[in-house]
Amino acid sequence: MKAVVLEKHGDLNSLLIKNIPDPICKENEVVVEIKACSINHLDIFVRKGMPGHPINLPIIPGGDASGKVIEVGSNISTDWIGEKVLIDPNIKLPSGRIGIMGEDADGVLCEKISVDPSRLIKLHENMDYYKAACLPIAYGAAWRMLITNGRIQPGEQILVLGASGGVGNACVQIARMFDCFVIAGTSSDEKAQKLMELGADVVINYSTEPDFHRTVRSMTGDGVDVAVNYTGGDSWIKTLKCMKTNGRILTCGATAGFDPKTDIRFIWRKELQILGSNSWTKHDIESLVIAVNDGIINPIIHEIIPFQDISRAHQIIESRNFFGKIVISF
Ligand SMILES: NC(=O)c1ccc[n+]([C@@H]2O[C@H](COP(=O)([O-])OP(=O)(O)OC[C@H]3O[C@@H](n4cnc5c(N)ncnc54)[C@H](OP(=O)(O)O)[C@@H]3O)[C@@H](O)[C@H]2O)c1
Repeated sequence: MKAVVLEKHGDLNSLLIKNIPDPICKENEVVVEIKACSINHLDIFVRKGMPGHPINLPIIPGGDASGKVIEVGSNISTDWIGEKVLIDPNIKLPSGRIGIMGEDADGVLCEKISVDPSRLIKLHENMDYYKAACLPIAYGAAWRMLITNGRIQPGEQILVLGASGGVGNACVQIARMFDCFVIAGTSSDEKAQKLMELGADVVINYSTEPDFHRTVRSMTGDGVDVAVNYTGGDSWIKTLKCMKTNGRILTCGATAGFDPKTDIRFIWRKELQILGSNSWTKHDIESLVIAVNDGIINPIIHEIIPFQDISRAHQIIESRNFFGKIVISF
């Protein structure tokens, strides 16, 4: 079968397409024929290498995939054959720690994969493989950040920075699901227009309004209840300035830099809470699948790209010139 293989960290040329042996179906596993994968910013970090987080190379990258069960191990019911499924990227590593496929273990950018069926979420026959593949990492992380850890409440004012990306689109939709007032931040007027169509109440273009905290303050008076900031970098102190007393800042990443300058005076004076989130649960993904089936959440796809053009998918994400998810088709 064909697979994307990363043998060394580097630029787009480090994404190799190779022929590797088909997976052997273990007795307690099933083989899934992959139909769609979605690319996350995590895939860019894995390709380039992350300080303090070594990746065992070579690795098959990619964490999000949907597909069809085509083979079952000797201990698994044949009822699984033909099931449409989504794979939970969380995986128990030999050390006992939970890791993510495509980062801590081989991932899903390959034609077939053998997995423990306890990690599969069955999909309704009408569910679109491409939309399903958008869900686990980006929408799962947003679900955990806003609902489980952020405990967002109807009527709260929520600022979402980087709202045009995968996690960002998910945050906007989940916040709207809770009847929150959503202020979305993005970097272009074109993306701003799309965010309004997605349901944001107000959009700020921080390329033309770099002091976006002033706009947020003038709009809200005393600041927002909740801010979602997985951007880090220059946006961190400005986010502290956007907050209401007792506000919650939710974070799950640092796309623009993990060691930003901070100003702890805002944290104590306003008694802010900074709440980190990592990963998701299988139940979160199941809840998301139901929300998509019910038409409450609609994963936005920027482009579907053939497997062979994986490097173009990475190039688009790095260009920052996209809205929603980049999906790979097989
Ligand atoms: N801990 C977890 O479990 C978890 C799970 C998923 C994601 N994450 C993290 O969450 C972040 C977002 O992930 P994602 O997959 O949604 O990313 P993405 O689709 O690439 O979107 C990131 C968005 O951030 C904005 N941005 C601001 N500054 C940027 C910069 N310097 N470079 C690139 N983008 C910048 C861009 O939107 P605008 O143009 O609108 O500003 C971009 O679209 C990443 O840091 C990722 O590692 C963490």
